[in-house]
Amino acid sequence: APAGQWTGPLVGRHVLITAGPTHEPIDPVRYIANRSSGKQGFALAAAAAKAGARVTLVSGPVTLSTPAGVDRVDVETAREMAAAVEAALPADVAIMVAAVADWRVADAAGQKLKKDGTGAPPPLALVENPDILAGLCRSPRRPALVVGFAAETNDVIPHALAKRQRKGADWIVANDVSDGVMGGARNTVHIIDAAGVDSLPEMPKEAVAEAIIARIATTLAHTDG
Ligand code: CTP
Ligand code: CA
Repeated sequence: APAGQWTGPLVGRHVLITAGPTHEPIDPVRYIANRSSGKQGFALAAAAAKAGARVTLVSGPVTLSTPAGVDRVDVETAREMAAAVEAALPADVAIMVAAVADWRVADAAGQKLKKDGTGAPPPLALVENPDILAGLCRSPRRPALVVGFAAETNDVIPHALAKRQRKGADWIVANDVSDGVMGGARNTVHIIDAAGVDSLPEMPKEAVAEAIIARIATTLAHTDG
């Protein structure tokens, strides 16, 4: 049996979490990435395991160690992350914290791109990646509670409200990333559900995780056995 525990508000539940960035290859030595550290997603995985859940953490490339009692699946690209999420189902709760690259290079080169001597850079044609969160929300195997994240630099609440509608998530956890939140230790989040907006004070990412996991436990306790 995995290193789980027998008590806690999420005993018997499977919580699926995505975290970190994705890397989208340009050629064998270069990739497109973003500033996600994975800290908030890993803190959520730790908090869910502490609450007694079985936790599957699908992680992009990060430098963090796996929290105790968490099953970790490492992926690199958005498409690998989508497949790992699918393979981890069914789950009672999904928390999609990953900063998934919106685009990948259409035809990643099999060999290192070289300067051609003319000074003209190679064109990079991009194509859109699958939306893992939206796909999960539409899936027949949709978890009972699906939580998305929305990192915004401006108009945080309006953008997050629209995102919740568009993707079909139960909750969107919105945060303002205009000022060093990505990679930092603290976070200020707004939890948006069908009833409205619940704004939490700024706190360490571990405390944000505890608050979200407590809210998830309460919600699940009120919706079924
Ligand atoms: N997400 C996802 N798959 C993608 C893009 C985003 O699962 N290809 C998820 C993220 O993990 C997050 C939520 O969707 O939970 C919102 O991500 P965000 O990048 O804010 O949303 P986008 O729809 O990509 O909108 P934007 O143009 O603002 O980036
Ligand atoms: Ca995006």
